[in-house]
Amino acid sequence: MITPIQSFEQYLEAYEQSITQPEAYWENQAAQFLWKEKWSKVLDWNFTEPSVQWFVNGKLNITDSILDRHVQTHPDKVAFYFEPNHPEEARQVYTYLEVYEQVCRLVGVLKSKGIKKGDRICLYMPMIPELAIAVLACARIGAIHSVVFAGFSAQSLAERMNDCGATMVITSDGAFRGQKTIPIKSIVDEALEHVPSVQHVLVYQRTNETIAFKEGRDDYWATAMEQASSVYVSEAMDSEDPLFILYTSGSTGKPKGVVHTIGGYMVYSAFSFAHVFQYQPGDIYFCTADIGWITGHSYVVYGPMLNGATQVIFEGIPTHPTPGRFWEIVEKYNVTHFYTAPTAIRSLMSFGTSIPKQYNLSSLKVLGSVGEPINEEAWHWYHDTIGNQQCPIVDTWWQTETGGILISPLANITPLIPSYATLPLPGVQPVLVDANGTILEGNEVEGNLCLKFPWPSILRTTWGDHQRCQQTYFAAYPNLYFTGDGCKRDHNGYYRIIGRVDDVINVSGHRLGTAEIESAINEQVDVVESAVVGFPHDIKGQGIFAYVICTPSESNEEAIKRDILQMVTKVIGPIAKPDKIVIVSGLPKTRSGKIMRRILRKMAEGEFHQLGDTSTLLDPGVIEGIKEKIIALG
Ligand code: WTA
Repeated sequence: MITPIQSFEQYLEAYEQSITQPEAYWENQAAQFLWKEKWSKVLDWNFTEPSVQWFVNGKLNITDSILDRHVQTHPDKVAFYFEPNHPEEARQVYTYLEVYEQVCRLVGVLKSKGIKKGDRICLYMPMIPELAIAVLACARIGAIHSVVFAGFSAQSLAERMNDCGATMVITSDGAFRGQKTIPIKSIVDEALEHVPSVQHVLVYQRTNETIAFKEGRDDYWATAMEQASSVYVSEAMDSEDPLFILYTSGSTGKPKGVVHTIGGYMVYSAFSFAHVFQYQPGDIYFCTADIGWITGHSYVVYGPMLNGATQVIFEGIPTHPTPGRFWEIVEKYNVTHFYTAPTAIRSLMSFGTSIPKQYNLSSLKVLGSVGEPINEEAWHWYHDTIGNQQCPIVDTWWQTETGGILISPLANITPLIPSYATLPLPGVQPVLVDANGTILEGNEVEGNLCLKFPWPSILRTTWGDHQRCQQTYFAAYPNLYFTGDGCKRDHNGYYRIIGRVDDVINVSGHRLGTAEIESAINEQVDVVESAVVGFPHDIKGQGIFAYVICTPSESNEEAIKRDILQMVTKVIGPIAKPDKIVIVSGLPKTRSGKIMRRILRKMAEGEFHQLGDTSTLLDPGVIEGIKEKIIALG
């Protein structure tokens, strides 16, 4: 097992070694897991193709280190406390042995469906332990899982399944979310009308509502599990075989399937969890992220379970039935480590300090933040009101593509500065570059954040389109991985993430591309053209602001706006619904027809005077028209 770094001096030493002798450093880390066959070479890489391979020719199954290992030493240790959406429903407890048995049983089910190594299985499920079990069963049989967050629409789900050629879907009848019940299976049925490759659907019964059932294609989880025999042997996989595909938004086109491979991802997700959170045996960890996002992959399923951690899995939302729900859970389970997104903190902060004060939060030792920059006000509220000034906040910066946390304090080790992600983890070599790609040396600089050396869980490709991976991450600056984030390095060498420098917006910690929202809006028949930008939002961090040009024949603006919201919900899902829509008669374009988004961003913030250089605009008159519309919107 991993022994966490214990002091700042030790961190500095580890960092130094990881940079000067990266192969020796990571070889030692990798040796702490179960391998079926040792690697022949630690690292092979170039950032031009790009091609990155870690623990080359090593053979393993990641679930050996997650399940078999822990079952041998502590079978009865709790893996999950399941806290259902409705607090009156009894909690459930799953030990490592129980998870192991369920996973082996589910592998039997998958085998009976003819699933084999390399097949793609799509998981579209609520936040319940069975989702983690399904993830692990895929990993055990060597199938590549692609979890789709159950808030995405049927159309988004279908696109993702078609892109990866999924042959099976694991889902549930419905999902409980706050006061709502969401008809998950019917969303899957609708999606599957457009996905010819899927032959099997396995349905976990969570809400027990009546669902459409297609004989020959659909099976119930409980019946299938009863009939299957458990398969205890884990498939021997290559270190560089894909473990999962996770779709994420970028600045252009449709979401792309980020591919992570087994060996490097295993080592880094476990390593980063242990060092950042300083998890100790007996601690109770609670990460509020859904498994449908990368945080749920790396810091609900893989990182904590590789470390044999005990955690709370929460099905519901922070405000149901009251905005004290997270704190009630902390008290109920004696949570020691709590990891959430700034948007949740800001939203709960808005209900007042008196709510958390009603709960005993003294079990807390470490607080974490992820997904977006944490503003100082939220940081202090989290630190004072939730952490009683006793708990460090680990402000963890990373991305779907990085697989694990790259820049973050190590809890109780790294001196903190509010809103700074502070320092890189061992093995992580950040650089800041200016617009020309010149590396900015020294401290007190600001630029685009890149990484100049591979860490074990760097993405390997984008599914089915390696060229896109090269173009998106490795083409902007030669021999560097470009993150898309702007960043400052202060006089101490501490990093502060400023936010995206591309056309990606971060809404409540969820990444959305402006291009994909525009293309959803444009599907609405009355829409001629649209432009979407982010704007500062008190709770969500960023909100979505849509400028839309409509056909002259349609004059009922309220009706158009309603239709646009419906269309975006249908094409992407409710998370992509614009917060503000203005119907305009023109957009600020250059003579070559390029929309000047810089101007749209300023106006979305309510800034109309200092718009910068507008002399290249084809028709500077459009600005006045847009301004009037925004002011009228209030
Ligand atoms: C942003 C989420 C500031 C950043 C794990 C990044 C952050 C994007 C932080 C990735 C942080 C994530 N401080 N910004 N601590 N963590 N981000 O792929 O812009 O959903 O590029 O991964 O979120 O979002 P993703």
